[in-house]
Amino acid sequence: MEKIWSGRAEGKLAKAANDFNSSIRVDSRMFREDIAGSMEHAAMLSAVGILSSSDADAIIDGLQGILDDIESGSLAIDPEAEDIHSFIEATLTERIGDAGKKLHTARSRNDQVALDLRLYLKGECTNLRKSLFDLLRALYEKANAEKETILPGYTHLQRAQPITFGQHLLAYAEMFKRDLSRLSDAVARMNLSPLGSAALAGTTHPIDRQTVAARLGFSGPCANSLDGVSDRDFCVELLSDLSLVMVHLSRLSEELLLWTSFEFSFVELDDAYTTGSSIMPQKKNSDMAELIRGKSGRVFGDLVGTLTMLKGLPLAYNKDLQEDKEAIFDAFDTVKACLPVMSGMIDTMKVKRENMYEAAKKGFLNATDLADYLVKKGMPFRTAYKTVGKLVAHCVENKQTLDSLPLEEYKTFSELFETDLYEEIALETCVKKRISEGSTGPDSVQKQLDALLKFLETE
Ligand code: ARG
Repeated sequence: MEKIWSGRAEGKLAKAANDFNSSIRVDSRMFREDIAGSMEHAAMLSAVGILSSSDADAIIDGLQGILDDIESGSLAIDPEAEDIHSFIEATLTERIGDAGKKLHTARSRNDQVALDLRLYLKGECTNLRKSLFDLLRALYEKANAEKETILPGYTHLQRAQPITFGQHLLAYAEMFKRDLSRLSDAVARMNLSPLGSAALAGTTHPIDRQTVAARLGFSGPCANSLDGVSDRDFCVELLSDLSLVMVHLSRLSEELLLWTSFEFSFVELDDAYTTGSSIMPQKKNSDMAELIRGKSGRVFGDLVGTLTMLKGLPLAYNKDLQEDKEAIFDAFDTVKACLPVMSGMIDTMKVKRENMYEAAKKGFLNATDLADYLVKKGMPFRTAYKTVGKLVAHCVENKQTLDSLPLEEYKTFSELFETDLYEEIALETCVKKRISEGSTGPDSVQKQLDALLKFLETE
């Protein structure tokens, strides 16, 4: 296929240079967006009188034929072509003759590729939203089923206070809700059409950028042609949003890995999401969680790579920008692969409630509640804190728990202790009495569940 830019240059590109320069292996996935943009461009050129309507019709029909043929597999994308834009334009001209050569009037590949990428990424964001919603649904179901399941809550990975598993899972739901909202923000900001920026300076032709932008689903054309062709902020924003999705997935993966370890034994993953060992017959490995945790690194790499690629670029278009797609596509592909796997794991995992409860009984998780008990009886918090600290040390020394220590011994620490203390520090009470907004108490968890359900139904 002859280069669309052969004219000034007559010599043929060296094979190594052609392979190096070509981006078609990466950008061919934007063929639909490229064709959609070209169709609207041709329609606009005809509407403003730059193209005859017969030429525009021939172009639009020709493009439709190319689209159908790529989709049906009867037209193979030439891997030797420079990029998807030149491949489609050259194929069009091969098929319809001279009219095809008029399509690129008032346009450059610089605004064309920026347009295609924005269109493509908008679609990817829609797909990603669906997967995030699926994950939120899985979290909702599990959290609802486990809203009363008590387990130890940790700070510093040390047992801290009893919490409910519902509350724990809903914390992740909050993260993924923020991810959704960040994606929406990014899409709203990137929703401007660069088409008509042409190579960098705009065009002498009387084009109608507004109509093209509106017809392609944008809120308008971008304001400055230099910025239009060289802006990749939207890639950086999306990459950082995707990086945060991966941070959240990776943290959840890490918890699944802890919980499925023999030492915790809080959760068992379904066989559908675990693997075995080739040598150790007893093994049930949580490979999927490890892979998600591991893949987060490549998405962060895509972000840092793109930032670094952009930081020294003078205006306007530079070929360095071609590197944007490899990074952003890889990030979307990675996140899109991780999300359904995480949803499946959450959906099918078995929660070992007894083990969680047993674990919550050890480690003096109710110490804060015991201090609060004294506070409610009139002791200043700091004094109560000290008293309970001494009690805990006493229990550790005498292999007792706060629940098993006899009242007479309690009395030697403070006269305020009465038999009602045991009821106060029962795990169920500790959880139930957490009544502050957003807390782990059942009322609060139910409110969070209701809000999440509403979110899932209305968004
Ligand atoms: N393949 C190129 C890219 O991805 C398309 C734009 C090429 N423009 C140019 N002037 N060579 O950025």
